[in-house]
Amino acid sequence: MQSSNISENTILEKSYTRADWQRGYESLYEEFDYWIDDIEGEIPPELQGTLFRNGPGLLDINGQPIHHPFDGDGMISRISFVNGRAHYRNRYVRTEEYIAEQKAGKILYRGAFGTQRPGGWLANFLDYKIKTIANTNVIYWGGKLLALWEATEPHRLDPYTLETLGKEYFNGALSTGQPFSAHPRLDRSCQQDNGAPCLVNFSIQPQLSTKITIFELNPAGEVIRKQAHKVPGFCFIHDFVITPNYCIFLQNPVTFNPIPMLLGIRSSGECIKFHLDRPTQIIVVPRNPKAGKEDIKILETQAGFIFHHVNAFEVGDEIVIDSICYDSLPEVEPKSDFRQVNFEANAPGKLWRFALQLQNGTVERKLIESRACEFPAINPANVGQQYRYLYIGATHAETGNAPLQAILKIDLDSGEKQLWSAAPRGFMGEPIFVPRPGGETEDDGWLLALVYDAAHHRSDVVILDARDLNKGALHLKHHIPYGLHGSFTPEVFVSP
Ligand SMILES: [Fe+2]
Repeated sequence: MQSSNISENTILEKSYTRADWQRGYESLYEEFDYWIDDIEGEIPPELQGTLFRNGPGLLDINGQPIHHPFDGDGMISRISFVNGRAHYRNRYVRTEEYIAEQKAGKILYRGAFGTQRPGGWLANFLDYKIKTIANTNVIYWGGKLLALWEATEPHRLDPYTLETLGKEYFNGALSTGQPFSAHPRLDRSCQQDNGAPCLVNFSIQPQLSTKITIFELNPAGEVIRKQAHKVPGFCFIHDFVITPNYCIFLQNPVTFNPIPMLLGIRSSGECIKFHLDRPTQIIVVPRNPKAGKEDIKILETQAGFIFHHVNAFEVGDEIVIDSICYDSLPEVEPKSDFRQVNFEANAPGKLWRFALQLQNGTVERKLIESRACEFPAINPANVGQQYRYLYIGATHAETGNAPLQAILKIDLDSGEKQLWSAAPRGFMGEPIFVPRPGGETEDDGWLLALVYDAAHHRSDVVILDARDLNKGALHLKHHIPYGLHGSFTPEVFVSP
């Protein structure tokens, strides 16, 4: 409840106003399909392909507000680049629950992050069902467009119409209701497949102990390797990293008490408690599916909370992991309003490097960037490999916590940094790096990002040259509510 008691001077010192930021959380009810004609600069003619993005498009159900944006129904945005032109289309993922709530015109389900069925605790008492929302990521792999949400199986979509085709089980490799994380990693040149590309993903099934399953998919979209392991304790793991030989999971020091959820008082997300006095565990699993329990190594480092990693790579026996780490996990309170979040009171995400020595089990960590940042991107050719450049959503100001308004480029070799900012009235989403065809340097390509422009209450598709952060922009006819993740494919999909 901060906006009303901020002094005028404080507002002027900020790089944004709360009112501007809040409008990016208005629902988008319409589904559009049009060629973009309001273009600033020029679309590079070599930029050919399709950017898919996912995120919560509805922040209310027929006027009933949801409690947390992570509970919002998944809306896919597609921006197709073809011969110097660009086309926009958006469509909601038709999960069973989306269809039922739209038909009923009211909230029917509990959300994982705090949305309750109307009617108080009694209406939620012993209700285990969590709404499927398919809102976190979208990938095109093996000829299939998949909307991902980490708590359940993917939804398959038609890449031309964005129509929902049903749930995807990869020919039975995934069982009914089995999670499939929203953060797959692409190994461009897999050692086990003689250098062929391979998509690696995981599922987390937490109970008293947690089952981690690793899936490796070939370019035809078939699961060709699968391994499952149980690790002690409750895990909340949103993202992971890969190297040629390992999958690595950082287990945040959290516990889960389901009682308030079962009583209908709190959502499952509100039952997670962060423990500053316990270490973060680093679970290192060999990618060789013949690896047994004895081959899994668990190392420890100082407590912190991690949603996202940038990348990892091996140097001899050492594994290096770059991650965005928070000092703690802000707990979601049942009566709180996410639009009134006190940024200054919450720990900002900062970029850390962890160096793991597998032989003696030690971990060293060092701070790479203290500016608040989130949503990292790299050249996809460098996933699991040594790399030089990273790009990340960042705050406009160098210190403090605030909404993301900028993209920060970091040269990890020289330490040089560049910042492109959309402040004061622009708010940044996740950047995606698209390599320039035939490009010779690691940063030869473009950064594509959705920026909410509060001055016009619309979103821009920003195209930055990744070498110097020079900008072009496509102005959409409408806003896109703040999203989560997306991906780019060189294949061009436009509406039929
Ligand atoms: Fe994520």
